[in-house]
Order: sequence, then structure tokens, then C-alpha cells
Amino acid sequence: ASVLRTHSLGQNVVYLETTNSTNEIAKEYARNGAEEGTIIVAEEQKMGRGRFSRSFYSPFAKGIWFSLILRPTFFPLEASKSTLLAAVAVCRALRSAGLPQAAIKWPNDILVDGRKLVGILTELSASMERIDYIVMGIGINTGIERIEFPEDFRDKTTSFLAEGIAVSRKQLLAAVLAELEKLYMVAETEGFDKILEDWKTLSCTIGNEVQVISEDKTFIGKAVDLDNNGCLLVDTGTKIERVIAGDVSIRPV
Ligand code: BTN
Repeated sequence: ASVLRTHSLGQNVVYLETTNSTNEIAKEYARNGAEEGTIIVAEEQKMGRGRFSRSFYSPFAKGIWFSLILRPTFFPLEASKSTLLAAVAVCRALRSAGLPQAAIKWPNDILVDGRKLVGILTELSASMERIDYIVMGIGINTGIERIEFPEDFRDKTTSFLAEGIAVSRKQLLAAVLAELEKLYMVAETEGFDKILEDWKTLSCTIGNEVQVISEDKTFIGKAVDLDNNGCLLVDTGTKIERVIAGDVSIRPV
């Protein structure tokens, strides 16, 4: 029996035993006209990609590695907020699946007690006027033992298994897609204001001291809010810095 409860998202599934990166395959499908809602799911990624061309560890059958193709009608300028939308959806699904401590680290990592359990990489193809496609790539660690994580990540990464929670990958994927579809409909009909408010309530970044690291500068301050473009506002004591997701990484201090 199908566990899927969505109308569009995930109704068309491309399933792969192994691939380099589901985002790469999804972009290929999108360029060739794949319909909105198509997902590419792989058991394993040999070259899973993260933000800032980092690699993303995606071993066989031990996580949910998938990419979703969207063709929104909202303006290209709004697209960066869809990555925050993804984080809200996945965070809700995780909380319902037995991880009430799941929280969002700006812009879109999901942490459990300070350790990363989910990574999200959103890629966009658009002109100034319209979006051709968004590929939303989501990686959720389910069955990775703590000891299996590469050594330099071990203290910073976690999984359902490492947290002592049993989860069905199929049911979790269905739950994530259901949450994504609800929020995507809100974004398409009402815009992102409500979603940004939801993001704030699920965030572990707002209210905390952060170190902001970009190519040209590094500073420390208190993350105080999101602006209505989804930028992080950081109070350095002397001024409010506006931080854009594409440019910087942050870490707690
Ligand atoms: C990050 O942590 O910086 C983002 C990681 C995103 C990983 C997912 S897994 C599915 C999709 N395919 C990829 O190559 N990356 C994303």
C-alpha cells in the first residue's frame, strides 16, 4: 500500500540504486521538461554535494537522499526563501517522527542537540522574469552509526539511529513530502511571510550568539531576526549586519 498522501509532490518517482548526486540527475530531468513534483531518490550517492561545494556523506540505504523538482510561479527574487520553506517542512516531519528537539540552524541545516541530521541544497534555474525550475535536494541521515561518520564530523553530525530512534525511510519521506506540499501551496498562494514566521519558531539560531564567516570578513554578534527576504540580521553591538545565505556560514560561539 502506498504511504504517500500528496497530490503532486512525489507522485512521479525516479528511483536509483546509486548515483553521483540526485541534484545533478534532477537538474538533467528538469532541463528535459520533467513535471513539477518529480523526485529523484537514490539508495546511495557517490558524490553527494553540499553548500559551498562541500561533499555530503550519503552511504547505501542509510539515509534519505532525494531531490525534488518544482516549477513555481512566484518571482525569481523569492526563490532563496524556498530553501527556508524546505527546512520548515523537514523540521516538522522530524519532530513528528520522534525528534522533538530538531531545530533549524540558519539557513537550512537541521540539528538535533547541536548535531546536524539534515542538509538541504536548493538550486535554481531562472531568468529575471520567471523561474524555470527549482531543484530542492534533501539529505536525511537515518541509519548511520555515530562511529561511521568521517572522523572530523563525528561530533557535529548525527542520525536517527545515533539518536536511538527507529524510523521507516519510506514513511519519513512521505511525511516530508506532505509537509513540503502544504507549505509550497501556501508560498504559491499567499507568499512567504507566514513561512518565515514558522521558520523563526523552529530555529535554534535566533536569539543566540553566532560567528559569521564570509570570504572577506568574520565577525561575532547576536542573531536577532530574519528580514522579509530571509536574510539573517545579526547585532554586532555597534550595528545590525544583514547576512545573505549564499555568502556565509555561521557557527555558534
Ligand atoms: C549541505 O549540508 O550543505 C547540504 C547537503 C545537501 C545534501 C542533499 S542529499 C540529496 C541532494 N543531492 C546532493 O548531491 N545533495 C543534496
